[in-house]
Amino acid sequence: MAVLVKSLDFAHQLVRQVLGPGEQAVDATAGNGHDTVFLAKLVGEEGRVWAFDIQEQAIKRVQERLEEEGLSSRVSLLNRGHEEMDAYVQGPVGAIMFNLGYLPGGDRSIITQPATTLAAVERGLELLRPGGLLTLVVYTGHPGGAQEGEAVLDYCSRLHQRDYRVLHYHFLNQRNNPPFLVAIEKEG
Ligand SMILES: C[S@@+](CC[C@H](N)C(=O)[O-])C[C@H]1O[C@@H](n2cnc3c(N)ncnc32)[C@H](O)[C@@H]1O
Repeated sequence: MAVLVKSLDFAHQLVRQVLGPGEQAVDATAGNGHDTVFLAKLVGEEGRVWAFDIQEQAIKRVQERLEEEGLSSRVSLLNRGHEEMDAYVQGPVGAIMFNLGYLPGGDRSIITQPATTLAAVERGLELLRPGGLLTLVVYTGHPGGAQEGEAVLDYCSRLHQRDYRVLHYHFLNQRNNPPFLVAIEKEG
């Protein structure tokens, strides 16, 4: 495998280094449940994952996947917007993952939106423990995606360096709008 892996894989590599057994984590965009399962394995039996999605179809699919993997008891699945995460989750949280855009295999008109994404990032950063990590995998190829990407970069580049380390991981020479990653580490 290449060293410069794709954005989603790099997000997983980073989260794996930070999140440990017994911690809380948030999947802000549960979708088909890949990240929910990934986080649930890392937090272990004593940990808890809070997974959000506005589509009932996604929540049902994630529920099935978790049952197949025997991981349901460590995940709270919420059919709510991630911008409400502070109403459900009490910190501290070790990692928060966002995978923006539309649900693969679902309705492509239901996409994450800049205003709610940024509200959720702001709330998520409050919930993170020192040394915790928030990741956003950002897709720009669909209508509205480029604007959301710009809003994310603009917001995240303004975070104070005293409080956060902010990384932008982006392939410069790949065609067809590959997703990019923004990773935010809370200073410890
Ligand atoms: C790219 S998909 C996520 C893929 C997922 N991480 C996976 O592993 O399959 C984006 C998801 O965000 C959801 N979404 C859109 N707006 C949302 C919001 N405000 N709060 C929570 N989820 C939202 C969509 O319904 C969609 O399922």
